[in-house]
Amino acid sequence: MIVNNPYINLIDRFPGHILNPSSLFEAKAFVQQITARGKKLAVELGSGAGNFLVGLAQRQIEDNYLGIELRYKRCFRTLQKAQIHGVNNIYVLRYNCTLIGELFAPTSVRAFYLNFPDPWEKRRQKKNRIFSAAFLQSIACCLEINGHLQIKTDHREYFEQILDIIESDKRLKIRELSFDLYNSLYLENNIRTEFEGMYRNEGAAVNYLVAERMPD
Ligand SMILES: C[S@@+](CC[C@H](N)C(=O)[O-])C[C@H]1O[C@@H](n2cnc3c(N)ncnc32)[C@H](O)[C@@H]1O
Repeated sequence: MIVNNPYINLIDRFPGHILNPSSLFEAKAFVQQITARGKKLAVELGSGAGNFLVGLAQRQIEDNYLGIELRYKRCFRTLQKAQIHGVNNIYVLRYNCTLIGELFAPTSVRAFYLNFPDPWEKRRQKKNRIFSAAFLQSIACCLEINGHLQIKTDHREYFEQILDIIESDKRLKIRELSFDLYNSLYLENNIRTEFEGMYRNEGAAVNYLVAERMPD
């Protein structure tokens, strides 16, 4: 059965700001365009429907903001929100974010954000989790020296797994850590994501960390 997804066509409403690439070559050209002339880039991995990216862009710290997300509807919603809020420096790539090692030049990204990655809770599903030592390897390679990786999740066991992986990589140093973001001093700068809103309504604690890329 063929299911038509209306959002496949709707993303065409934001030319230049979104790409559903048909090749790695196309995806790389898109990234090169938004990092041209030394433009500073922050990237959200699995960016969902864009609340976080829009909130981040409104702070105007970097030049450009890129969300990498697989779902068409969420890609569309992100750019729709950017338009509503008058933010013009948000871009979306409909792409598998575990392939970032192929996309970005080494040390070309100022910051990566990973918010509420799917936890794949069942034992047989855990192999689907996107965070792994190989994924961190790609992140560390693409990050600028002194750039950072920020992660939030309500899933404690996944968070501890992520923490172990980060702690065993000498290129990254944990700078901020909380198992309960909402009762920590880090809350002040928090930007709430869509999933975070849902989990907070259910009373979940949010795990949070920031790791800095150290010099080689
Ligand atoms: C639980 S949702 C969280 C969305 C958003 N970050 C938030 O906090 O509201 C996980 C998101 O990651 C996306 N995703 C999962 N695997 C992905 C992958 N390999 N590449 C890109 N996006 C992915 C999903 O489509 C989904 O939007």
